[in-house]
Amino acid sequence: MTAPASALRPPMTDELDPEERMSRAEIERLQLERLRWTVQHAYRNVPLYTRKFDEAGVHPDDIRTLDDVHRLPFTTKDDLRETYPFGMFAVPMADVARIHASSGTTGRPTVVGYTRGDLDRWGTLVARSLRASGIRRGMKVHNAYGYGLFTGGLGAHAGIEALGATVIPMSGGQTARQVQLIRDFEPDAILCTPSYLLTIADAMAAQGIDPRSTSLKVAVLGAEPWTNEMRHELEQRLGIDALDIFGLSEVMGPGVGNECLETKDGPHLWEDHFLPEVIDGDTLQALPDGERGELVFTSLTKEAFPVIRYRTRDITRLLPGTARPGMRRMEKVTGRNDDMIILRGVNLFPTQIEELVLGIEQLTPHFILELTKEGRMDALTVRIERHPDLSVETCEAAAQVLVQRIKVFIGSSVAVRLEEPGTLPRSEGKYKRVYDLR
Ligand code: DLL
Repeated sequence: MTAPASALRPPMTDELDPEERMSRAEIERLQLERLRWTVQHAYRNVPLYTRKFDEAGVHPDDIRTLDDVHRLPFTTKDDLRETYPFGMFAVPMADVARIHASSGTTGRPTVVGYTRGDLDRWGTLVARSLRASGIRRGMKVHNAYGYGLFTGGLGAHAGIEALGATVIPMSGGQTARQVQLIRDFEPDAILCTPSYLLTIADAMAAQGIDPRSTSLKVAVLGAEPWTNEMRHELEQRLGIDALDIFGLSEVMGPGVGNECLETKDGPHLWEDHFLPEVIDGDTLQALPDGERGELVFTSLTKEAFPVIRYRTRDITRLLPGTARPGMRRMEKVTGRNDDMIILRGVNLFPTQIEELVLGIEQLTPHFILELTKEGRMDALTVRIERHPDLSVETCEAAAQVLVQRIKVFIGSSVAVRLEEPGTLPRSEGKYKRVYDLR
């Protein structure tokens, strides 16, 4: 029997972009050629880069090998703030076809721009990402990333169109309506944050719909850190495959990298368009592949907004490619420098708690972290909703198991407080997990 046209399967070789079939050596040759172009372009057209290169005593002609990228100065969010709003654009405004901005929790938003060509390349890379996730022409895709200045909604939208699939431009929020349209329109795929998919699954259950019974076969999730335990939870609850899509506004938006359906082993980075590095966040020295540190990107084809050694603050490590041997993978990003909690000398990431919570069956995945001061000491409370179908005693016992596991596996003493079902805030996009009340 032949598989139906809409069956989920990894792309065949002839469906891949030519660059996805390149060997490592071919990719590196392409990267060097494009790196040299980018460095020239940034130096000539963005005064901040001219100044920084001159200060560092490096000229675009000095870039002769890929390793020479290490001679270039880093770019940080502060550089983008300093040049707010359009000072980092490398083309005249007349050539800027679109602007996006990331909200920025503190201070000014970060503004990014795209030429028509940048938008086309972005669409191609998101299409490549969705194809790697098993989505094809002939499938309907429910896009619940937020539309607007956030790159998630429109970025994903363009990719779905470039792939030739059918886009349902839902945006985020209005959860009851999301559930209704998933039932009525019968999409094959959903795109949203992992925390929002959890909200949607809960809303289905609340309406008496079995989340496993819908038409959904695959979810392409990103925009926030999430663990393999959360992948497992969502796959089980919804009867789907859950794939990781990675990206950030400064570097492009969604689709800088994506997991492949056949391996699900962390996003492959689309290295024909981006040169990744991992550095030691303290010494700023580049680390060899396999070592964990801060992820840094240099764009290779961007016209309006080239970035040179942009420090993402995301913590990960680079690994050899598997499903696409020419491109490196990265370990799933489970934390950022700036959301690391230092609790009485112990570093911990919220995703480490997520991993432990999801490992205890009697606990729900709905929790927030509260930081307070007790005297001069910092204290962390995990506020977690109790399971609606289990007795309070069972839930209390499970909460105590969590306290012990956090002590053993992370090394921190925390309090766990049970909350009534449905009382903690629900995600509608990027979930705010940590509340610092100190
Ligand atoms: O979140 C772009 C995006 C939209 C990616 C939709 C994927 C899907 P920003 O708002 O600029 O852009 O936030 C970028 O979000 O530096 C990471 O810390 C985090 N992030 C994005 N994707 C992932 C992921 C979009 N798959 C910041 N896993 C990044 C973990 C992610 N963290």
